[in-house]
Amino acid sequence: MRITFSVIKADVGSLVGHHTVHPQQLEVARSSLSKAKNEGLLTDFHVTAVGDDIQLIMTHQKGINSTQIHQLAWDTFMEITEKVSRKLKLYAAGQDLVATAFSGNMKGLGPGIAEAEFEERTSEPIVVFMADKTEPGAWNLPLYKIFADPFSTPGLVIDETLHSGCTFRVMDVMEDKFVDIDTPDEVYDLLALIGTPGRYIVHSVYRRTDGLFAAAASTARLALIAGKYVGKDDPVMFVRCQHGLPAVGEALEPFAFPHLVAGWMRGSHHGPLMPVSIKDARCTRFDGPPRVAALGFQLCEGKLIGPSDMFDDPAFDKARATANEITDYMRRHGPFMPHRLGPEEMEYTTLVSVLKKLEGKLKPASELQ
Ligand code: F6R
Ligand code: MG
Ligand code: MG
Repeated sequence: MRITFSVIKADVGSLVGHHTVHPQQLEVARSSLSKAKNEGLLTDFHVTAVGDDIQLIMTHQKGINSTQIHQLAWDTFMEITEKVSRKLKLYAAGQDLVATAFSGNMKGLGPGIAEAEFEERTSEPIVVFMADKTEPGAWNLPLYKIFADPFSTPGLVIDETLHSGCTFRVMDVMEDKFVDIDTPDEVYDLLALIGTPGRYIVHSVYRRTDGLFAAAASTARLALIAGKYVGKDDPVMFVRCQHGLPAVGEALEPFAFPHLVAGWMRGSHHGPLMPVSIKDARCTRFDGPPRVAALGFQLCEGKLIGPSDMFDDPAFDKARATANEITDYMRRHGPFMPHRLGPEEMEYTTLVSVLKKLEGKLKPASELQ
């Protein structure tokens, strides 16, 4: 059975600043998707939230970039904004709905999308990862480890089907271009690009043996769409697992290392990505630290069986403790780089208008006495 798996997310306003969502927002989302399921548009859905972002996890048979499905997600986010966010004066109501109206599909409108169409296997385990207070490039390091690093994924060495490696599709979000890179042969080319996560972002991954689709990630950068800073592009991705693909544990393993990502306070700071359960996916300290939650599902004729809250496990306690230690260390740098992002990244924040005011005060160095 061919199935399309669509994860579409947006921050449409939140409770107590940019902290968490309101239960009524999730109710509106569930009732909207439930109606679409009853009408036969969706096969199944799961609504969840990480920090101030709402994720619509949907299965259907309309293929990728379907106007009907994207319109459903857009209308759902609009309805949440109007019926709850604005009514309760939640903070930054409708924040990610950058476009004024829906036009054909969700691309370039604000919300983040990770989606793919594939043949459901005899058994189909999928893990959906969702982050708050960071950007799509935050997935580059874990995706590299999952699909190209045998020290993290022994299946790349041991499993015959995975042994030929993977193809990474990488977007250049500044130039709106993409390139396909085969690993392990071209692994250094891959790293030369994705080591710059603000610009080169892994879009999807395929198994080389047969081109089987393995992972998809959202790549939308809000500031590039809106032309100004409106919030961070808190990303989503999903990974198909097992039976010739990385095991579930191999997909989770990179998150035992809370790597530094861009985002956090005012979208302007580097901080550790802390793996948490859904109940702990609420940013507090310094509007963070950035968090990632993971929900695991088994697909059954397109139905979402589960979810299981994958980081709700003491095995990730050490990663959380390390993330908290890194948080203390990074915070002590205050407004200095490398805690604060570098000038290139700050171009997409509110610092730009502050610096503009200083421009007129700068004098030529030749006037120095
Ligand atoms: C970061 C984020 C928050 C806000 C901060 C200031 O992605 O959402 O850290 O940037 O709380 O928000 P405003 O400018 O809305 O007061
Ligand atoms: Mg927000
Ligand atoms: Mg957010």
